[in-house]
Amino acid sequence: MLLHTDRLGLRRFTAADAPAFSAYRSDPGIARYQSWDTPFPLEAATERIRTYNDDQQQPGWFQYAVELAAEGCLIGDVGFRLHENLMQGDLGFTLAPGRHGHGYATEAVRAVLDSRFAGGLHRVSAECYAPNTRSRRLLERVGFQLEGQRPAYTWTDGEWRDLCLYGLLADQWTQSAP
Ligand SMILES: CC(C)(COP(=O)(O)OP(=O)(O)OC[C@H]1O[C@@H](n2cnc3c(N)ncnc32)[C@H](O)[C@@H]1OP(=O)(O)O)[C@@H](O)C(=O)NCCC(=O)NCCS
Repeated sequence: MLLHTDRLGLRRFTAADAPAFSAYRSDPGIARYQSWDTPFPLEAATERIRTYNDDQQQPGWFQYAVELAAEGCLIGDVGFRLHENLMQGDLGFTLAPGRHGHGYATEAVRAVLDSRFAGGLHRVSAECYAPNTRSRRLLERVGFQLEGQRPAYTWTDGEWRDLCLYGLLADQWTQSAP
């Protein structure tokens, strides 16, 4: 495991995660505000896992597989993109549909932020669509500040969606960490 919390382990993805990864990404409710289409077939899941960075200290997307310790199964993921300057990052997260409402995503995101800020990171950014209230609540719960909103930014599913821009600086994290 790369990171541990009370209830979770965060580790690298492996090819063996592809069936569970494909299953939760294929749920239309999970994909609704995300960049992929459903279904998300097993082949696509396998290929996506293959492209993830192996080294979390290298620029680019590193995807943490989130495992529920009590059951030893994959329940979601946290994506972190380290910028070329090694001082900034972008954050994303997804939980399997049956796992919402227990604080797992918050716990996983806090573990990633803790580890990244401890490594000297200056800033983390996150974007989400305005109607994605669960995502916005999570970001605000862990201390992200709403920095702006881009009105009618993306045309998706027959509607224009506002995009919310969030940010968290290292000193804000120090203040907001529990
Ligand atoms: C975004 C997403 C991960 C949030 O899931 P979530 O279950 O709301 O988040 P958490 O796992 O942190 O759980 C928090 C909820 O559990 C509750 N909770 C229960 N026990 C808890 C505990 N021990 N600790 C913290 N929260 C707890 C919280 O009150 C909160 O509920 P609320 O928002 O209704 O108040 C999920 O909705 C998802 O996967 N969405 C699809 C993918 C997506 O859109 N990703 C974001 C793209 S920008």
